[in-house]
Amino acid sequence: MKNKLIDILTENIEGMSEEDIRAAVEVPKKEAMGDYAFPCFRLAKVYRKAPNIIAEELKKNIDDKGYTFIEKIENVGAYLNFFMNKVEYARMLTEAISADNFGSSDEGDGKTVCIDYSSPNVAKNFHVGHLRTTIIGNSIYKIYSKLGYHVERINHLGDWGTQFGKLIVAYKKWGSKEAVEKNGIEQLMKIYVKFHEEADKDPSLNDQAREWFAKMEQGNEEALGIWKWFVDISMVEYRRIYDLMGINFDHFTGESFYRDKTQEVIDLLKEKNLLKESDGAYIVPLDDYDMAPCLIMKNDGSTIYATRDLAAAIYRKRTYDFDKSFYVTGLEQKLHFAQVFKVIDLMGYDWADKMKHIPYGLVSMEGGKLSTRSGNVIYAEEILRESIQKIYEIISEKNPDLPDKDQVARQVGIGAILFNDLYNQRIKDVIFNWEKILNFDGETGPYVQYTYARCASLFRKAGVDELPEEIDYKVMTDDVTMSLLKDLSRFPEVIKDSAERLEPYMIARFAISVAQHFNKFYHDCKINVEDDGIRYARLKVVKMTMDVIKAALDLLGIECPEQM
Ligand code: ARG
Repeated sequence: MKNKLIDILTENIEGMSEEDIRAAVEVPKKEAMGDYAFPCFRLAKVYRKAPNIIAEELKKNIDDKGYTFIEKIENVGAYLNFFMNKVEYARMLTEAISADNFGSSDEGDGKTVCIDYSSPNVAKNFHVGHLRTTIIGNSIYKIYSKLGYHVERINHLGDWGTQFGKLIVAYKKWGSKEAVEKNGIEQLMKIYVKFHEEADKDPSLNDQAREWFAKMEQGNEEALGIWKWFVDISMVEYRRIYDLMGINFDHFTGESFYRDKTQEVIDLLKEKNLLKESDGAYIVPLDDYDMAPCLIMKNDGSTIYATRDLAAAIYRKRTYDFDKSFYVTGLEQKLHFAQVFKVIDLMGYDWADKMKHIPYGLVSMEGGKLSTRSGNVIYAEEILRESIQKIYEIISEKNPDLPDKDQVARQVGIGAILFNDLYNQRIKDVIFNWEKILNFDGETGPYVQYTYARCASLFRKAGVDELPEEIDYKVMTDDVTMSLLKDLSRFPEVIKDSAERLEPYMIARFAISVAQHFNKFYHDCKINVEDDGIRYARLKVVKMTMDVIKAALDLLGIECPEQM
């Protein structure tokens, strides 16, 4: 509808491009002011007339052409307020939503986006911080895919670095194969802690650890064998979590993947005269950019996190030729990415500005008892399983005969956590409050899922498999239905905005808004009535709501059970 209006305005206005017209068209705050408004002030220069006169003439021109979908135009202080014909509006929107893939676009055709997210650290538990990057990254992947981009989902596992030298020493001294096999990551964490306790007393342990990491970097078989085993053990837990959430990656190329690619980075840095020695280590000074230097190589010759990120950036550009490359991590890595991007820029790569860090805030339990900052780590798997369990109990009480209870509890339990993580701006801290997260009537995932299931049940009760082609659109023109339709119509723009700002919360808020509008419609407009014309038209509205809710939740990575 908006596009149609913009076409008409473009046809009837001189001296303003379609793009400028699009940017100028507004949706008035009050419904009494019409569906769209167009301010005529800017045209004063072109036409050399008072804005009010221009508005009057434009109104007359458009009126004379008699477009069926414009009901009336009002000129209010050089603003043209457009009232669309409601029947036409309902018809056009119904057609748009009923067509495949409402909200998708071709904006990203032929373009590639890399998203680096989740990326847990091997031999450490997957905690709620990693849960956030996983959830946000997955949503951004879905949003960009919807807009036609080709997306490479990259898991940059923390599977390389001096900590593995420590782990090997610890394992050889205090570990046992059985214990690691039995307890997995838990056991690796235990011996890692022990290493630090012992190294406080006996610093030579640190030298041994360095030697073992050096062996890993040189390709020593024994060192790599143990390391690889630690990676595999950790992956078992990570995959369990990804499966639970229905999350996939295209590449598990962790830091170790770049171990044979860092030498080239060092050579290039030397060649470009960017590398400076400092106390036996090598750095790229960044004082000119008000940043601490970027450490490239430690004085023992080992490379670090940043070196591997430089290698990764170059590898990704060469391999995927990305148009955008995103990194989703906690805010505490802001400086790290600023340094890496700056070094890439200084190396002369003109694509440096295509990389972007997407930070997010902390996760804490209500009351602040278990914040990640205080070091008390909350494990992701525990939270997810607890959520599923709690939902299972709620469902068992409310709907004991529900078939497939386990599956529904998983979908809703996971949905609740995902939705809570995505409901606010990324940078805001997330607070866990079970009562709020799981409230079926609050601004929650379960509330939206419940609304969807309610729609699905209306359909089941109506007993119609397929709605007729012919719909009486007049039925949709009452205020409550119209305001639901208008809300649904926002979906494509919400997707675009959330992609541009890399903010999935915009989709989450939209989903809540649709659910609220629907529940008002459900309350005010009786659906399963005798009159087939009314019944079909309203069922069609139910169907459109379902399609949009399902698509919106999908963009957040949340599934929609048909019953709950
Ligand atoms: N493993 C890192 C961490 O847990 C995150 C890696 C992010 N990606 C990257 N390319 N640096 O903090």
